[in-house]
Amino acid sequence: MSEIRVRPLAEDDWQNYRSIRLAALEDSPDAFVATHDEEEAFEEDSWRARMTRSERLLAEVDGVAVGVASLGEDEEDTGTAQLFGLWVTPAARGTGVATALVQAGADAALASGRTQLSYWVSTDNARAVAFASGFGFRPGNRRRPMHGRGGEEEIVMVMALGDDRGQPTPF
Ligand SMILES: CC(C)(COP(=O)(O)OP(=O)(O)OC[C@H]1O[C@@H](n2cnc3c(N)ncnc32)[C@H](O)[C@@H]1OP(=O)(O)O)[C@@H](O)C(=O)NCCC(=O)NCCS
Repeated sequence: MSEIRVRPLAEDDWQNYRSIRLAALEDSPDAFVATHDEEEAFEEDSWRARMTRSERLLAEVDGVAVGVASLGEDEEDTGTAQLFGLWVTPAARGTGVATALVQAGADAALASGRTQLSYWVSTDNARAVAFASGFGFRPGNRRRPMHGRGGEEEIVMVMALGDDRGQPTPF
């Protein structure tokens, strides 16, 4: 199989990010709070601002985009980076793309001095929860309602980075 490559996108790559982000929202409306129609209407300035607000990681196989993830701040803990917006094209699921994206996010978080990585996921999203558990995330204590989704709830999953693979701070 061809090699999976993950690269961080620069501000000028905003159109690449826009394209895969809109594909993600169209393919998996239940997985994200944002909607395709909402983000399709964003102007160039908004996309450029998003590129600098968080790190955007693009996964490619033979130069074709197959997945995306973002890395930003955790709201509650400065030592923790937050992974979000994870999506893999349906054809590339189960091929290691999600692992490559999250590993790149974990490496970048560790390189920036973070000791933990957090990831919010809907408790209804069995595949994402299974993937995160398999990768090494553990359920944390925080829960929040999934905005605009009735009683649906998100759970924070947390993973220690680097050599310390023990129980992460339970928050
Ligand atoms: C979540 C996502 C990124 C994971 O990537 P992936 O390539 O599908 O992940 P993997 O195949 O490596 O791992 C999925 C795991 O879930 C398991 N799984 C698959 N379908 C499942 C289901 N319906 N219920 C429970 N587990 C399931 C697989 O067996 C696998 O576990 P294993 O590695 O122990 O065998 C991808 O499925 C995706 O893009 N989904 C749509 C968008 C999304 O939900 N994003 C997350 C938003 S928080």
